[in-house]
Amino acid sequence: MIGLDGDEDMLRRAREKSEAQSISVEYKHGFAQALPYADDTFDVITSSLFFLHLTAIDKSAAFTEVCRVLHPGGTFILADWGQGQNIWMRSLFLLIRLLDGFETTRDNAFGHLPKIMRENGFLKVVELEKMATPLGTIAILQATI
Ligand SMILES: C[S@@+](CC[C@H](N)C(=O)[O-])C[C@H]1O[C@@H](n2cnc3c(N)ncnc32)[C@H](O)[C@@H]1O
Repeated sequence: MIGLDGDEDMLRRAREKSEAQSISVEYKHGFAQALPYADDTFDVITSSLFFLHLTAIDKSAAFTEVCRVLHPGGTFILADWGQGQNIWMRSLFLLIRLLDGFETTRDNAFGHLPKIMRENGFLKVVELEKMATPLGTIAILQATI
């Protein structure tokens, strides 16, 4: 199992958590728009609460990279902010948008991630679940190439 992040401090915290749970993970510093792995490396890739940080161009680049490093037939599971089920959930998400930036969170707020994933290499994208949280709706997406 490999974990990647663009921030050394986050990697250090993740290392501490997995060591405390005796889980063996290899951590690597890198950026999602240029993953430091060869083509066809992984069976499964997951990502949580990350794509809201990327501009539209970087979202596309990162999805293209995930497709490149997945084995054909591999699976990508994504948990990220999605379009709120109702006006109340959409209003709650405004706080996240205020803090994290309106540009990078726009595609999340309007539920565009599945469309962007299809445009950048995924053959099939399925929304497995939508979870209401105190700050908005988290969508769980499963995609295959
Ligand atoms: C909200 S945190 C989520 C962390 C973790 N995935 C979780 O769910 O607890 C977002 C993470 O994305 C990382 N990050 C932001 N931009 C990145 C990029 N372009 N490539 C890789 N990591 C990035 C940040 O360093 C941060 O650790």
